[in-house]
Amino acid sequence: MRKKIIAGNWKMNKTLEEGKILASEVVNMAKDELRDDVQLVLCAPFVHLGSLQSMLADSTIALGAQNCSNHASGAYTGETSATMLKSIGVDYVILGHSERREYFGETDSLLAEKVDMALENGLLPIFCCGEPLDVREKDGQRAYVQQQIEESLFHLSAEDFGNVIIAYEPIWAIGTGKTASADQAQEMHAAIRKQITEQYGEEVANNTSILYGGSMKPGNAEELLACLDVDGGLIGGASLKSRDFVDIAKSY
Ligand code: 13P
Repeated sequence: MRKKIIAGNWKMNKTLEEGKILASEVVNMAKDELRDDVQLVLCAPFVHLGSLQSMLADSTIALGAQNCSNHASGAYTGETSATMLKSIGVDYVILGHSERREYFGETDSLLAEKVDMALENGLLPIFCCGEPLDVREKDGQRAYVQQQIEESLFHLSAEDFGNVIIAYEPIWAIGTGKTASADQAQEMHAAIRKQITEQYGEEVANNTSILYGGSMKPGNAEELLACLDVDGGLIGGASLKSRDFVDIAKSY
């Protein structure tokens, strides 16, 4: 059966000291308060990953990055490869976040290359998809997200696809305080699972974790996580406070 995952996307926040404090608070609270069938993942800025790895080594909490290069190695100043991430003990990598698509011009075809690079190096991609407000207003969200998934993921074999986690993050709900309703989230997650079923069959689709992201917080997590096809959350703002992040995971 598919994994339940609560992943924190710290984005470009926290100094190293602040990040270490946050991580240690999460480790301690999780140990005391959480059931072990929920996988927590901390997706921190690149520069913090090495330090956090040693802090998380004895815990069940996994470490994630927020991006990786589409190249294996070489003269790509400022880039970080999937091999490097793997070499310091990173397990997950967020790919295709809407902020990277919007501010850094990441396209579906570039993301297909990044997904390949992550999988070749044994990283689990958390592949983000989601529609902007104007698309939602015209009821075009299903077609929009389907295209993102098809173009970046459907070249994969069923075996490789089995290592991909999807995060549905409607852009209009990110950092806005506006959340998709449970019905809106469930509808999209079910549509995504149906698309995966059509491409890879029921077994693969049933084993794929589909996370919801967009202003998830302790006050709305229970309702969203109760949806049949919502298998966890990708949390931005609320992951910067240990109490809120762990409370979201406790909503399961
Ligand atoms: P917020 O939870 O701050 O809306 O961010 C969601 C997100 O972008 C997670 O990747």
